[in-house]
Amino acid sequence: MDFSRNIIITGGAGFIGSHVVRRFVTRYPSYRIINVDKLTYAGNLANLKDIEDSPNYVFEKADICDFDRMLDLMRRYNVDGIIHLAAESHVDRSIKDPFTFARTNVMGTLSLLQAAKSVWEPSGWTGPEGQECRFYHISTDEVYGALELTHPEGVKSEISAHEVYGDTFFTEDTKYQPHSPYSASKASSDHFVRAFHDTYGMPVIVTNCSNNYGPYQFPEKLIPLFINNIRHHKPLPVYGKGENVRDWLYVEDHASAIDLIFHKGKVAETYNIGGFNEWKNIDIIKVLIKTVDRLLGHPEGYSLDLITYVTDRKGHDLRYAIDSTKLHKELGWTPSLQFEEGIEKTVRWYLEHQDWMDNVTSGDYMKYYDEMYRS
Ligand code: NAD
Ligand code: TYD
Repeated sequence: MDFSRNIIITGGAGFIGSHVVRRFVTRYPSYRIINVDKLTYAGNLANLKDIEDSPNYVFEKADICDFDRMLDLMRRYNVDGIIHLAAESHVDRSIKDPFTFARTNVMGTLSLLQAAKSVWEPSGWTGPEGQECRFYHISTDEVYGALELTHPEGVKSEISAHEVYGDTFFTEDTKYQPHSPYSASKASSDHFVRAFHDTYGMPVIVTNCSNNYGPYQFPEKLIPLFINNIRHHKPLPVYGKGENVRDWLYVEDHASAIDLIFHKGKVAETYNIGGFNEWKNIDIIKVLIKTVDRLLGHPEGYSLDLITYVTDRKGHDLRYAIDSTKLHKELGWTPSLQFEEGIEKTVRWYLEHQDWMDNVTSGDYMKYYDEMYRS
């Protein structure tokens, strides 16, 4: 079968990547989607069970740091687009093991860029069908550093209907000031991507998104970890005083933004993606407790005593808040879900997919796919 486009999505077995792969495979049957993933602890092919037999989907177990392999995949599949999500993504792990983050996030991105350049530059950055090639790099708002908490109690925002906790927001022009090894490695990779545009003319796009939540997120991150702990009546480790603020976006809304930007975004531009949805950790934790307790038929307040304040994360960024006005004005994107709806959907999904959670927490998902793909 001839495909109109051949697109590599890296990190497609991870949380956000699996939603992006599913969206592209189902919405664009004429595209061949090549999921390139190393299957680290965070990669789980069970996230893609429903689409794995689609005729326009291919899985390639590969490490993005392996330049020769990336080059081979680019050539073998006539790749004309890359949506790059593969990364080490958990801040706490980066504090313990920064080398792995530098390797994958910086060197891995560079290896992918260099492979794409080797194949695309000689053809004038156009694919076999004459379409312009595109290297789309998925990054995070954490590269911008941390914002002040000038309104600890929250105030109505001028630019959104939601409460905000400070006067400033991350825009596309905010200076990079990463604090954690994770955000430093992502910032470095963003710089490399832009350098490939400025130096060689590679058609690149970078987006910086706020915290995502939704189905298939690895339960080391706040929302799935806490839903699972509440379900099993285990302590909820709140770092510091729980006063840190994060800006949450439903993962499918991130995937819809990626789809729009991949197709309509302007080369060399940066777009911030976020839903103007700031929450203090302790408030979101109370929403999770309330929702899980209600869905499990427990009385209101039943799990509140699970809240356990623990030593703060080192260098814990105080507040993230994205201003996504540019994306809204230039490309017309808005998130589809209100937070209340998104969190209800998410909690229900985890409660109804206990088998998925058990597989992940027991490590069985790694054993299962060992035989097929793991080395
Ligand atoms: P994740 O940790 O759930 O998934 C990462 C995926 O990358 C896994 O499938 C893993 O196997 C794969 N991978 C890791 N190292 C690899 C390597 N060397 N070669 C090939 N594959 C490798 O991450 P996520 O939360 O889905 O995040 C995806 C991307 O989005 C990351 O680039 C992250 O920085 C960015 N991002 C995440 C968030 C968030 O809230 N999760 C927000 C903004 C941006
Ligand atoms: P996390 O989901 O790790 O995302 P990020 O660090 O990229 O924002 O954490 C979200 C917030 O929740 C962050 O402020 C740290 C806090 N947190 C806890 O308080 N306890 C936990 O066990 C975890 C995992 C996170």
